[in-house]
Amino acid sequence: MISTTMATALNEQIKWEMYSANLYLAMSAYLQDAGLTGFSHWMRIQYQEETAHALKFYDFLLSRGGQVTMLSIDAPDANWSNILEIFEETLSHEQEVTRRINELVHLAKEERDFATDIFLQWFVTEQVEEEDSVHDILDSLKRIGTDATGLYQFDLEL
Ligand code: FEO
Repeated sequence: MISTTMATALNEQIKWEMYSANLYLAMSAYLQDAGLTGFSHWMRIQYQEETAHALKFYDFLLSRGGQVTMLSIDAPDANWSNILEIFEETLSHEQEVTRRINELVHLAKEERDFATDIFLQWFVTEQVEEEDSVHDILDSLKRIGTDATGLYQFDLEL
């Protein structure tokens, strides 16, 4: 049986993953509107991945006898003015997710909740991958700069 403290923290993480999903779906719509179909598709995949992350926490919590509470999710602040801003926000958002996952690992260790600790290791590895792939896209976008042909080519790749 999972502790109430750990269950509360995991419910908060479900909310955070659902917020991430909403944020990326809003970004996907912005990119689609801007005619960047490849980027929009990439962002839509991130939306699906975040939903899957939320469900992983949801299933784990239930399997440990914890209570799932679906908390309300804030609307994303969709005031981007260009694609660079979108990917800069994506990177800082993923860094915040990493910070939160690390806090959860810290709590699990403090509580000697080894099952949750092991469960969380998948997310620790996943965050390395997520930050890395956003970094790569951001680097390429910075290199492309204002070159419309370069951006078009990159969009096709994605
Ligand atoms: Fe669920 Fe992109 O972290």
